[in-house]
Amino acid sequence: MHSMSWEDTCFKLLNQTKLPCQVEYIQCQDYKIVADAIKRLEVRGAPAIGAAAAFALVLGARQIAMDHDFWDKFRNIAEELRQTRPTAVNLFWALDRMLSVSSRFVEKNDIQGLLDALEQEALSIANEDKTVNSRISAYGAELFTEPSAVLTHCNAGALATVGFGTALGVIRQAWSDGKITRVFADETRPLLQGARLTAWELMQEKIPVTLITDSMAGWVMKNKKVQAVIVGADRITLNGDVANKIGTYSVAVLAKEHGIPFYVAAPVSTFDFNMQTGQDIPIEERNSSEITSIAGVQIAPTGVDVYNPAFDVTPNEFVSAIITEYGAIRAPYTESVRRLQQKVKGES
Ligand code: MRU
Repeated sequence: MHSMSWEDTCFKLLNQTKLPCQVEYIQCQDYKIVADAIKRLEVRGAPAIGAAAAFALVLGARQIAMDHDFWDKFRNIAEELRQTRPTAVNLFWALDRMLSVSSRFVEKNDIQGLLDALEQEALSIANEDKTVNSRISAYGAELFTEPSAVLTHCNAGALATVGFGTALGVIRQAWSDGKITRVFADETRPLLQGARLTAWELMQEKIPVTLITDSMAGWVMKNKKVQAVIVGADRITLNGDVANKIGTYSVAVLAKEHGIPFYVAAPVSTFDFNMQTGQDIPIEERNSSEITSIAGVQIAPTGVDVYNPAFDVTPNEFVSAIITEYGAIRAPYTESVRRLQQKVKGES
């Protein structure tokens, strides 16, 4: 199962809003289709959003290749893509990478050279994500020293990435090493990424999964049914605060209360090295209908006031370790994240 594929003239996205009932791909030849797919969560998960936006920019550049005002239009397309979702920093990281490639072609006005280079860069972003997923999975699996049941929230699997996932990648690896006995998947209201996507992905791999509602997580911990929590992330700041799907913060607080390690698995592209703390992370608020309806069926009284933040921020003191492609880092995060940044800089 792949969240996306690139075939020269056509970009295909697995429509995640239709899962698990239908496996349907969206054919994208127009960057606007990708932009809408990101907004509608047809493609979702931080690394997948970044890669999809990169391919969208390739499509957009091709669409305007003959236009006399190419560069203005190109910058506008990039800006339009930046506006699709605000929280996952991978979106901006991927677009910035694409724009930095484009800067080499502006002076010569070499549009064909640009189109080729953009395609190569988007493919690199996608391929690197696969390698990064494997490295995170290997480092994460090392943290499990004895067979454990784990709890996860939202979907940080193959669907959320280009490879086989961050948090679910660790679970996959640890499962194949005999170190995971069962996964408890929070359903993840309002859009049910846990019930629809995580449960589906794990069942495909024959990894034992038990679906629970979000409100059951505390009771599952109290009854010692899980020995660790592992989740993905949408943005991690310099002090180690972690933005992830709404509900993650509650899970982290519960884990601390029950003495259970709370692990975050995320690539370096999810770190915002320009942001000091989680207080500055823009939190997406989505349409109230996501709360007042389930699968299109109204469940709340018409006109009720709704608050629908799509993400929350878990303060660093609740995070036992952040597993990256460079290894796991721990508190004090102001120091370990800086060291990580230095390592990344040293390699580029
Ligand atoms: O709104 P979504 O489904 O895009 O939110 C996704 C999450 O919060 C994931 O946990 C996060 O992006 C990590 S994916 C590897």
